[in-house]
Amino acid sequence: MFYPKIVVSPPGPRARELIRKDEQFVSPSYLRYYPLVVESANDCIVKDVDGNEYIDFNSGIACMNVGHNNPRVVEAIKAQCSRFLHYSNTDFYYQEAINLAEKLAEITPGESKKKTFFGNSGTEAIEAAVKLARWHTRKPLFIGFISAFHGRTMGSLAFTASKPAQRRYFSPLMPGVAHVPYPYCYRCPFKLEQPNCNYWCADFIEEQVLHKYMPPEDVAAILFESIQGEGGYVVPPPEFFQKLKKIADEYDLLLIDDEVQSGIGRTGKWFAIEHWDVQPDIICIAKALASGLPIGAAVARAKIMDWTGGSHASTFGGNPVSCAAALAVLDVMKEQKLMDNATKQGDHVMKSSEISERLAA
Ligand SMILES: Cc1ncc(COP(=O)(O)O)c(C=O)c1O
Repeated sequence: MFYPKIVVSPPGPRARELIRKDEQFVSPSYLRYYPLVVESANDCIVKDVDGNEYIDFNSGIACMNVGHNNPRVVEAIKAQCSRFLHYSNTDFYYQEAINLAEKLAEITPGESKKKTFFGNSGTEAIEAAVKLARWHTRKPLFIGFISAFHGRTMGSLAFTASKPAQRRYFSPLMPGVAHVPYPYCYRCPFKLEQPNCNYWCADFIEEQVLHKYMPPEDVAAILFESIQGEGGYVVPPPEFFQKLKKIADEYDLLLIDDEVQSGIGRTGKWFAIEHWDVQPDIICIAKALASGLPIGAAVARAKIMDWTGGSHASTFGGNPVSCAAALAVLDVMKEQKLMDNATKQGDHVMKSSEISERLAA
């Protein structure tokens, strides 16, 4: 089987008609990179409304780690739909959310007891983490990274810093966020080189931010992506997170790890931060967790998630259908050894790109 299978030059007539209608009725704020109008998707193949078929390297923007319409996930969704669709975890209880929180406590890094707050999206997971950090520490300020993407609501947008268009005309955002350069060795923002740089990107936070203008007593947390996604798929160098953790421990700052994109097995481990053996205090999860159904989760050490009734909630957060899908996703990831497959495919791509780099040299 060879892909793509093109039966009509894209965008075909049905796609063009729907795009014209979209332009009339749908918000123009979305950034469409090319005119794919989806008719159906299965496993890693996506079909457009004119019958063209493609291998889906978009993965529904990093959501379909177990493949489109994974039969186990679809079964779990159908079974849950026949029981109940919604009953607000905010005011009542149901087993799907409780069981998912238990599973998330198991798979997130670190042995400590953990608790989960459920929202509906990545940005809500970040908002929850930021609010929780303020609640727990009673401190107002945060450190984030240049080129980060954490979402588009007013709190998460205060951390997002990868394209001017994301922020243009929306200020003032949540105050109190300082941005520092991300550890990006290939295009080092400090124009330094490993290993001679001696991890200046980590020391910079201590020497130029905490010692100069952000008193650590006022800083609640450092929020980071363990691999920057939108910022260019940037993998930090080996010791960066260990150094960041040392700074956080020394100055009593929380570490909030945004695994919205890199989590749920995408890098060969449940969470990318596991490659550096560092345990964050709060970890944000969304995208692939429920295989395309809306969900967001902020998982924190139990002793940090100490906020009290009424401090934060969401009507739809932890919807039972999304939770049932997520429970199936976690089973499928494990049983079908999809993390091993991600490692295998990653190694293959890295080897191929090394070869092409050598050929180009
Ligand atoms: C790392 C990261 N954090 C947060 C978000 C925001 O997630 P959502 O679009 O579900 O609000 C994204 C979305 O792309 C992301 O990649």
